[in-house]
Amino acid sequence: MTMRILLGVLAALLLVCGRVAALEIELPQDTTTYRPSDLPGFPLALQDCLTCHSSQYVQTQPPLSSRVYWDATVHKMKNAFGAPVEEADTPALVDYLTKTYGAEAPPELSHATK
Ligand code: HEC
Repeated sequence: MTMRILLGVLAALLLVCGRVAALEIELPQDTTTYRPSDLPGFPLALQDCLTCHSSQYVQTQPPLSSRVYWDATVHKMKNAFGAPVEEADTPALVDYLTKTYGAEAPPELSHATK
């Protein structure tokens, strides 16, 4: 009798384990790096903007952030936090950020609708 109960428990356990093993695990999209682009600011962002934090901060800014906002942000990173950004590179960086994450991003890139 006890053997039967034990077998029953075992069978139930196997069933549960089988279920668990069959679960599909979907990982969240990797959001740590910058969106590829042909704009010259893209390699600059990879070079200058990943030393201290991932692109998460950039992706979570309000989607309609203006060029002026990105210009201020790049200069804040440079002047207040010491990001290794050459002054001559800032217009290209700002252009990339505005067109990829900000007010000038095409609808398919904008996270405004998501
Ligand atoms: C030297 C380190 C460093 C580098 C390099 C750096 N950041 Fe930051 N960044 C920070 C810190 C520190 C914060 C967090 C500030 C806070 O918590 O208020 C931050 C926050 C941010 C934020 C959030 C909004 C804000 O104003 O705090 C954005 C957007 C951002 N960084 C973009 C960038 C971009 C774009 C670059 C490349 C030009 C860059 N960061 C490079 C240190 C850095």
